[in-house]
Amino acid sequence: MPAASSDVWEVMSTARTIRRFTGEPVDDATLARCLQAAAWAPSGANAQAWRFIVLRSDEQRAVVATAAARALEVIEQAYEMSRPDPDDDSRRARDNRATYELHDRAGEFTSVLFTQKRLRMASDLLLGGSIFPAMQNFLLAARAQGLGACLTSWASYGGEELLREAVGVPDDWMMAGHIVVGWPKGRHGPVRRRPLAGAVNVDHWDQPPADLLGDSTSKEAR
Ligand SMILES: Cc1cc2nc3c(=O)[nH]c(=O)nc-3n(C[C@H](O)[C@H](O)[C@H](O)COP(=O)(O)O)c2cc1C
Repeated sequence: MPAASSDVWEVMSTARTIRRFTGEPVDDATLARCLQAAAWAPSGANAQAWRFIVLRSDEQRAVVATAAARALEVIEQAYEMSRPDPDDDSRRARDNRATYELHDRAGEFTSVLFTQKRLRMASDLLLGGSIFPAMQNFLLAARAQGLGACLTSWASYGGEELLREAVGVPDDWMMAGHIVVGWPKGRHGPVRRRPLAGAVNVDHWDQPPADLLGDSTSKEAR
């Protein structure tokens, strides 16, 4: 049984992307909690101009599979990624193998398409800021329940028009993102990130965080 946790620090620091799933379906109650968490997210002016579309019929899964295949072609080029040799056990090979497995099996899983209505005056980036917190809440709620998830680009690239058409997303709604969910094969683990100090400044772009960070980011301080 995947480890559920309601410790928010543990959840955030171990909500690693999961790309390998068992065949067990995600039950409605678990998925509904993820969707509720998404809807608790902030949005500009509290507009909540979002719609989350669960894709789980055979027809929509087939469309998702095609969108995933198209995204994979772009990802392979962008990251110079290719299918690893079977006997390559390097971290890169293992990561790439998981990425291929996710994309190859895309049609087998439940996923959620996140859409955001275009609003007058707001830039695309600002509108993104009103929907990505919902996606992050969804990811954290998935992790908290022991569910695995992967945010994908499948509603971008060649998949955007495919999914827009299949789902019937109106032209004035943006295809913001797409998350695959399932019960993980394997375990959640700590996220790998660069040291915090390299991303923080005080008062000025060139000013290092000096003592600010202290022990606050260490496990002991939690
Ligand atoms: C906007 C966005 C798009 C992503 N698209 C894909 C994707 O198409 N396929 C995929 O396997 N992972 C995708 N990811 C997952 C990232 O690769 C992953 O979050 C990142 O490598 C960090 O890994 P971690 O979550 O395990 O720490 C995407 C993540 C984001 C934020």
